[in-house]
Amino acid sequence: MAGHFSLEPAPTDPVQTQYRSIKTAIPVPESIPLLESLDKYESRSMHGQLPIVWDRAEGFQVHDAWGNTWIDFTSTIFVTNSGHGNPRIRKALQAVLDKPLLHTYTYASKERADYLKYLIENTPAQFEKAFCLSAGTETTEVALKLMRLHGRLSKPSKIGIICIEGNWHGRTLGAQMMGYNPSQKEWIGYLDPHIYHIPFPYPWSDEAMADPAAFARKGLEKLLADKKLNADTDLCGFLLETFQGWGAVFYPPEFVQEIKRFCTQHGLLLSFDEMQAGFGRTGTLFGYMHYGVEPDLLCLGKGASSSLPLSIVLGSTKVMDLPDIGSMSSTHSANPMVCAAGKANLEALLEDGLIENSKNLGLVFHEALQSLQKKYPQHLRYVMGKGLLAALHFKSESGEALSSLCDRISLLCLHRGLIVVHTGRESIKLAPPLVITKEALLEGVSVLDSAIADAISGK
Ligand SMILES: Cc1ncc(COP(=O)(O)O)c(C=O)c1O
Repeated sequence: MAGHFSLEPAPTDPVQTQYRSIKTAIPVPESIPLLESLDKYESRSMHGQLPIVWDRAEGFQVHDAWGNTWIDFTSTIFVTNSGHGNPRIRKALQAVLDKPLLHTYTYASKERADYLKYLIENTPAQFEKAFCLSAGTETTEVALKLMRLHGRLSKPSKIGIICIEGNWHGRTLGAQMMGYNPSQKEWIGYLDPHIYHIPFPYPWSDEAMADPAAFARKGLEKLLADKKLNADTDLCGFLLETFQGWGAVFYPPEFVQEIKRFCTQHGLLLSFDEMQAGFGRTGTLFGYMHYGVEPDLLCLGKGASSSLPLSIVLGSTKVMDLPDIGSMSSTHSANPMVCAAGKANLEALLEDGLIENSKNLGLVFHEALQSLQKKYPQHLRYVMGKGLLAALHFKSESGEALSSLCDRISLLCLHRGLIVVHTGRESIKLAPPLVITKEALLEGVSVLDSAIADAISGK
């Protein structure tokens, strides 16, 4: 997302439906001083976002202070899965706020004990313990540490970690080394020689699609041969992004099952980075559940609380207890407010049928999006995703990435009362809160339809 949308107000046609309202030019002229103030006082890296100022957000709608209302197809960025301002979360937060108990460091609190018990009781059996942090990138760093500590138990050389080309795991040092994008890690100046990557089985690769398990084996065998590695004594773990984030690209299950076999055979821990995939987004509690394998470690964040900063690593007692007391903790870990939000969020997902809604409405969503693909086949090449997660891939007939077309579509959607995830690449991502209704979902798709048509015709 290198560019910056113009801060010149653009006229819009008025919109008034049950779910959307657009009454002003965009950006709203009165919002410009605030946007300029952020440009002046905050680092540039935080900017480049669609030019609106959020004032209130509830359910699947976002409001500004000037009477505009949008249907949200972003959940901010895969965070507010149980809905913006979910009433269960607000009530739980209010109770902690009213005590008051705003911070406890690693001293015990009831909120933390209640949440972690509920979390472990409601996740698959191999996850026996949790460790909470604030950011997603911290959890992939923790997975790196735990996989290595575990490997070194059997041999000091057992520290190699395999990741996947094209995947992404956060912005801190270890996370960027495990991520693939070479230009993003140039700043580091060196690369960990024990972090390796094998090719991703993209759906447009005939070889990968013909036999995904053989494609995984080939990648692994080539890696072992090229780097002269002994799988039993030089490798400790595997980290997979549950789907490739920028384009919601899933693996064929056979590819992941082959990786699981390799991990089991050679004593590697299998970790999934579920940042975008977790907490109901793809129609199951966790995204890895589509692959028919059970991971050893899970890196979670974003939708974990639908609100305050909460990220989590889940694993077995044996692995999670490897670090000594004090060597894996953080000042803001498991804050009482955050834990109260995390518990209320998981209760909402499990007890209010939101994961079912993601699964069922996901079918309606993808059917409608497939119709768009058929309508604009020369630009919209693929629609990917599962549940209430989708990515639209825009490429020209010659295969050129249509990134500026995506910028234009995202902006036209904004002018018409729909917020989509602007990636800065050739994809537009869609992730409405899981509380969305069928009617609002289809209204959002119709806005997208009109924006694609007008962007293609140069409007
Ligand atoms: C797959 C994946 N991993 C890790 C991260 C990093 O999370 P955070 O931005 O909370 O550090 C993200 C964030 O977008 C992500 O999508």
